[in-house]
Amino acid sequence: MGRTRAVALVGMDAHVVEVEAHLAASVPGFTLVGLPDASLAEARDRVRAAMTSSGLGWPQRRITVNLSPAGLPKAGPGFDLAIAVATLAGAGVCDPESVAAQVHLGELGLDGRLRPVRGVLPAVVAAVQAGRHRVVVPAGNVDEARLVPGAQVAGAVSLAQVAAAHGAQVEVPAVDPVDPPRSPEDTPGGCDLTDVVGQATGRWALEVTAAGGHHLALIGPPGSGKTMLASRLPGLLPDLDDAAAVEVTAVHSIAGTLDPGTGLMRRPPFEAPHHTASAASVVGGGAGIPRPGAISRAHRGVLFLDEAPEFAPAVLQTLRQPLESGELRLHRAAGTARYPARVQLVLAANPCPCGNAVGKALDCTCTALARRRYLSRLSGPLLDRVDLQLDVLPATRAERRAGARESSAVVAHRVALARDRARARFQGTGWSTNSEAPGAWLRAHPPAGSAVRDLERALDRGLLTMRGADRVLRVAWTLADLAGAGRPEQDHVAQALALRSRTAGPT
Ligand SMILES: Nc1ncnc2c1ncn2[C@@H]1O[C@H](COP(=O)(O)OP(=O)(O)O)[C@@H](O)[C@H]1O
Ligand SMILES: [Mg+2]
Ligand SMILES: [Zn+2]
Repeated sequence: MGRTRAVALVGMDAHVVEVEAHLAASVPGFTLVGLPDASLAEARDRVRAAMTSSGLGWPQRRITVNLSPAGLPKAGPGFDLAIAVATLAGAGVCDPESVAAQVHLGELGLDGRLRPVRGVLPAVVAAVQAGRHRVVVPAGNVDEARLVPGAQVAGAVSLAQVAAAHGAQVEVPAVDPVDPPRSPEDTPGGCDLTDVVGQATGRWALEVTAAGGHHLALIGPPGSGKTMLASRLPGLLPDLDDAAAVEVTAVHSIAGTLDPGTGLMRRPPFEAPHHTASAASVVGGGAGIPRPGAISRAHRGVLFLDEAPEFAPAVLQTLRQPLESGELRLHRAAGTARYPARVQLVLAANPCPCGNAVGKALDCTCTALARRRYLSRLSGPLLDRVDLQLDVLPATRAERRAGARESSAVVAHRVALARDRARARFQGTGWSTNSEAPGAWLRAHPPAGSAVRDLERALDRGLLTMRGADRVLRVAWTLADLAGAGRPEQDHVAQALALRSRTAGPT
């Protein structure tokens, strides 16, 4: 009998799996037990082909490979390598003790080459947590696996190389490692606020959004700079701390969007799904164990819905639950996958179908009904949660002429100071930004005297709901943090009110 271990991933939850191969002197055959996933049936053919083409032969015996625990849905980093080395150990080709002492991750090509797999980071984290520090991974996954503290990682390019390391008498051919799949699109790195002309209110709203962790909606005609502003938000956010960096990197490892060789993702991600995207690609999905969608790939970063009213209503609706809980649960027959989804949401929208209903709306060709309907597509599920909503108008001629503009680095510095103040205030509460402060806390810590009266008046006149008032208070706290004030003053509350009602003028 040969045995080793691999790792199964169910969403972000990784479980160490025992792989045992029994070889009996009976009618030759090959059975895999404990593999509900159809993709793993193919593992059988790959393992057999890879062993044969690597010159390791195929034992003419009755081979039964058991993956346990049986009830666990098994997907994620290929089990191929573990199945192959367990079989080789059972056949006496490899040293059983050497094989049993290590965790094996990787998919096999028919030619015996080892192919990189998704989810290596969370898999190795789980292995180390289970006390299994020695891990063999495909060469293309070595950098990712080595990010895990305490892991002793060996990389290999082929099954023959792994088998030889476990004592098999086999020739190890010199082959190039198979590159991991590259992430499809780049996040907008290298875009800076210095590029944005004018837009004083838009810039200020970005700064407030970054400092408080708030959601933001930008409403304005085409070409006014909404997309430009939104894509500059990540550049204002501080680096991720260690725990967040591991979470974010793990999600991207599972999604297959981790850039090889970049190490832990230290910067907040930016995801901008197109408005034609399906619900599966926005929130996650797919056959078997579902993959994380854009909202999870944006975890601890920014989810940007450009042309937000153009998204399918069903897609917008599915965002509601994860925005509330910061987590996504996808239920499938194969099991429930959990992915983190704590994002800052940025919505961009034209004010109406023709895009011109701003200011006096002279050029708007839409009917009153069409105008009303357009933004109301967002209102129910999403706009209610957005603390800052503002009109973005094209830069004026005077603004276009104005001189020096602040860079993202300068603004990011103020954001970091404001975040430090909030974190210090919330120490021991379990939340760290104003956007997370519960209503009870906000009401127990009211702003300075006269500011409260303004809010009361807005509530009395029905301009604001209680929930809306909480949102104003959160933003007011962020304005106070940016100003270095100990608590919100009247001016902060007034500005916060303006910033959520699309009436904020230039500051
Ligand atoms: N305030 C601005 N400063 C500099 N360039 C701008 C500004 N507004 C618009 N632009 C230019 O117009 C283009 C379109 O802007 P964009 O952000 O895509 O507008 P929107 O998303 O509102 O339709 C940008 O690529 C940029 O070149
Ligand atoms: Mg745009
Ligand atoms: Zn219009």
